[in-house]
Amino acid sequence: MIWENIAPGVWKGTVGEAEEYNLLTAAAAKPNLPAISRLGQAPFPVEKTEIKAKLLDGKTYLQFPLEREEQVFGFGLNFKTIHQRGRIMRLHVDHYGGQDNGRTHAPVPFYVTSNGYGVFINSSRYLDVYAGSGSRLDSENPAEAMDRNTNPDWTASPYSDAVEILVPAKGVEVYVFAGPSMLEAVQRFNLFNGGGPIPPRWGLGFTQRVHRLFDQDQVLAEVNEFEEKGYPLDFIGLEPGWQSKSYPNTFAWDESRFPDPEKLIQKLKEKHISLNLWINPYVSPEASFYEKLKPYYGSHTVWAGAVPDLSIPEAQKIYWETFRKDHVLPGVGGYKIDEVDGYDRWLWPDVAQFPSGLAAEQLRQTYGLLVQKQSSELFREQNRRTYGLVRASNGGGVSFPYVIYNDYYDHKDFITALINSGFSGLLWTPEARASKTAEEWLRRFQTVVFSPMAMINAWASGTKPWSYPEVAEEIKEMALLRMKMMPYWYSSFALYHFKGIPPFRAMQLEKGFSIKTEKQTNATSTLEENPYNEAIKKEINDQYMAGPSLLVAPIFAGEEVRKVVLPKGKWYDFYTGKYVGDGEVITINARLDQIPVFVKDGGIVPLMEPMLHAPGKNQLYDLKILHYGESPGQFPLYDDDGISYDYENGHYSWRDINVIKESNGKWKGTISTVGAQKPNNVGKVTWVFMSEKEGQNPLK
Ligand code: GAL
Repeated sequence: MIWENIAPGVWKGTVGEAEEYNLLTAAAAKPNLPAISRLGQAPFPVEKTEIKAKLLDGKTYLQFPLEREEQVFGFGLNFKTIHQRGRIMRLHVDHYGGQDNGRTHAPVPFYVTSNGYGVFINSSRYLDVYAGSGSRLDSENPAEAMDRNTNPDWTASPYSDAVEILVPAKGVEVYVFAGPSMLEAVQRFNLFNGGGPIPPRWGLGFTQRVHRLFDQDQVLAEVNEFEEKGYPLDFIGLEPGWQSKSYPNTFAWDESRFPDPEKLIQKLKEKHISLNLWINPYVSPEASFYEKLKPYYGSHTVWAGAVPDLSIPEAQKIYWETFRKDHVLPGVGGYKIDEVDGYDRWLWPDVAQFPSGLAAEQLRQTYGLLVQKQSSELFREQNRRTYGLVRASNGGGVSFPYVIYNDYYDHKDFITALINSGFSGLLWTPEARASKTAEEWLRRFQTVVFSPMAMINAWASGTKPWSYPEVAEEIKEMALLRMKMMPYWYSSFALYHFKGIPPFRAMQLEKGFSIKTEKQTNATSTLEENPYNEAIKKEINDQYMAGPSLLVAPIFAGEEVRKVVLPKGKWYDFYTGKYVGDGEVITINARLDQIPVFVKDGGIVPLMEPMLHAPGKNQLYDLKILHYGESPGQFPLYDDDGISYDYENGHYSWRDINVIKESNGKWKGTISTVGAQKPNNVGKVTWVFMSEKEGQNPLK
């Protein structure tokens, strides 16, 4: 392995002949080197000689060390497990099938460990990962041979001191990211991939996806209903029925349902609503460009639609021209790009061939990256930001303005996916579609409000936020809370972009959080039932951090109490400011109308007044700044025009919010001023020091 220090705390290792087409080239990610430098120099985090690589039989064998207590996180969008040590996976882009086996929407070959560093395998192949599961004969810390007859500690999964990865190629690039903390390793990884996206401000508002066969009038009627009922709405999504044909697609408006799309877009614009269009990429023989694109199709079809080889520049040009001309220029705000994952029986098989000469496997692993990159360019050309949905991504895709979703619908697992997304530079929405009960509807809704995209996807159900009358008011209040928190969310995304800090992330990335995973034997199963009974791990997979200082602990339908693990330091109730604990496990009673949220000591949450739509360019909003606890606090408030890419040329501002206690014991808040040339949309500022509020709820 040849190592090269390519940025402070970032090393590239090469072994053999690394393939030219890989995750980073597919994504064309541009590292933000100045931002990485600001994280400082750091030594190579492990003994270099302990990382081993071998070429054998046209494959690359990689081995990375693990210490005894070291914990492993990452490997993309897992839905059930946070801790990955001991797991075996084949990283393979796929629709999640209910098991964390590597087949998922974004099987990112990146992991971080509790020793504070990260490893990324830059390969567009299916990778076999043994994340601390194999025991080597040549190990310096081998598994102990135990006598099963007499030793109760005997286990079917003996100790392993290595992560081993098999790359089916004659060489590969490996990147190592130093910390020193796990969060800093994740930050370096994210910044190396260009940093996270800053959505347009409207992207952080509420979005509704309408029934798949809605027509133009129904869409407008729905928008009016939101307005009349006082529910916020920023963008509305059309599902397959906007097209004349779908599965496969014409990408052309259906003239009976949408006789005048330009007028629709215009009317929506007047109402401050952006339009999002569903597609999957597969081309109907009736699409206007079907013939022209013919030289660039793969050998197999998806739902009888041709699969364009979007790794080829000529194909890209022909393909996206229709999107540019018919959708983006008239004012469509974004896409939902579906089915770029897909079970094997839907998608092209691995025996498919493509005109670029890339293997079907390579396109499978990177198709999500290609469509995100190429579609977001259409908006960038117009100097307009977009924020859309996609069902597959991979390493390299951190900066794309897309949020992943799927068809699976387990609420708890949706939250585990949200937690895991933050380890791998991904954004995930636990979208609400329909529910068995009003209680479940509200519980699901509460979590979309604390996620990267606050969305109802009613493509099949036709649900609305108010569909369950018993909780319609509570839902409205939650949606308005999302809007009030817009300045907090917007700054959190700016921190993702400029510093690489994931806006939604696992507790493990938070200082002062430590919890040993307990190995528990499944006591209910006997030797007869399962002679190789595996120890199961108990882990915290249902609470997470949102933005700089909030801890979110969702309640799931049917629960009346739950436990919350608080990191060290004092924590306060978000709604009342009351002290709740310090480095301990607390039990809380669930209130139907609230999702439990806790704030770090000194935490600051800037709010705006609840609007039905995100503030537009140059639209002023007043700030109400909440401060929690007993310690002084700081918050970096970010602002820009909210819609363009001008921030990339320095047209943005950071304002320091500071809260201190003066010598007379009174709290005082200040906010720094901005130069005249810099964007500043803040009007009046008021302060709320929660420690003086005695349990009132200023969030109402
Ligand atoms: C699914 C997708 C759904 C919806 C549907 C429309 O594949 O996950 O959210 O868009 O297609 O046919």
